[in-house]
Amino acid sequence: MEKIGIGLIGYGGIGKIHTLCYKDIEMYYPGQLPEIDLAAVCASNPESAKRAAKEGGYRTWFTDASALIHDDDVTVIDCSLPNFAHRTILLEAIAAGKHIYCEKPLALNGAEAREIATAAAAAAKTQVGMTFNYRFIPALLRAHELVQAGALGEIYRFQAEYLHTGYENPEKPLSWRLQHDKSGGGALADLGAHAIDLMRWLLGEFEAVRAMTHTYITERPVSLGAKEKGAVTVDDAAWLQVRLKNGALGTIEASRFSTGVLDELRFEICGEKGALRFNLMDANYLYWFDASRKGGTYGGDQGWQRLDTVQQYPGASIPPARSILGWQRTHAENQYQFLKAIAEGKTPQPNIIDGLRAQFVLDAAYLSARQGGWVEVEQE
Ligand SMILES: NC(=O)c1ccc[n+]([C@@H]2O[C@H](COP(=O)([O-])OP(=O)(O)OC[C@H]3O[C@@H](n4cnc5c(N)ncnc54)[C@H](O)[C@@H]3O)[C@@H](O)[C@H]2O)c1
Repeated sequence: MEKIGIGLIGYGGIGKIHTLCYKDIEMYYPGQLPEIDLAAVCASNPESAKRAAKEGGYRTWFTDASALIHDDDVTVIDCSLPNFAHRTILLEAIAAGKHIYCEKPLALNGAEAREIATAAAAAAKTQVGMTFNYRFIPALLRAHELVQAGALGEIYRFQAEYLHTGYENPEKPLSWRLQHDKSGGGALADLGAHAIDLMRWLLGEFEAVRAMTHTYITERPVSLGAKEKGAVTVDDAAWLQVRLKNGALGTIEASRFSTGVLDELRFEICGEKGALRFNLMDANYLYWFDASRKGGTYGGDQGWQRLDTVQQYPGASIPPARSILGWQRTHAENQYQFLKAIAEGKTPQPNIIDGLRAQFVLDAAYLSARQGGWVEVEQE
């Protein structure tokens, strides 16, 4: 493979971040990948598509996603579209034999996700990578390394939260994120998907969940400043009790109504031999408690250690590993690892199975919130 032609569909908030990151990869990892060619971008109308091509540095622009998918210069379809638009684009990209890099969540629900995964499994040429970018924070790569090495022993409990603010103002208008038919879910599908993926990746598969959801503001202006109101049909917050297949028990909370918080993805995991703590707003460090360290007078050697994980990406040429980490770098790493996998003919991590399994957990949680009680998580 001489070149990887990127065709990005959906040049909104995250499409712009992906674009920035594709440009950064050669600087982080010089000579490690075939040339990344920003071949084409697709936006909703000619003005925004033209602007996207100019701003993002894409050679061609489209307003018709099918035309982009079938462009011969496009090797990878980057799906940065709102959730309701994923299914159609992904199925068409699979049929056209293109690789896919898809934002979370994979689709609107488990049925759609299964349909996409089935089509992808039957397509010899397509690899599907998922954006679960928080896996690529060095602190979390270190956490994964510790758990895999058995440093925590049996996992007793975990508590994961993804908390945002910004929806408390009742004048904030409706958007696709607040409408169930367009998003598949609210805070849980949007934020909780990340926490679910991290707990799956770190600790193991989900067996069953019991959930409660809540919508604080049930009607909002249909557009900014409009008098007319429309119904909010998703959760503003969700609380899950979780049982993993390996017996570990925990909780997950996702909320857009966390006053005073900016972007807090945080967790605590306690095991037989040790414990871990992480907070995205303190992303340079992983906190590790080694239960084998001896106590003594005044506490002896026991206590939490702060591990300097900072920006340690093996093989990256810049910036220095001691430089503070940023959110954008986690996306660049997710994209780099995906492109490296397809260039080497390997299965990317995370991939469509991770997208599918997260979606099954979301489905089980929403079903539990509606009917009450524990719900078993569907397995592919
Ligand atoms: N991993 C992360 O950190 C992260 C962060 C934000 C969003 N996301 C995910 O990214 C996806 C997009 O979210 P966003 O925040 O960028 O949304 P957004 O609303 O900001 O952007 C979506 C863009 O897609 C465009 N669009 C819609 N239909 C289109 C079509 N048919 N053809 C071309 N363009 C079309 C819209 O005009 C808009 O510009 C969602 O799945 C979301 O869950 C992930």
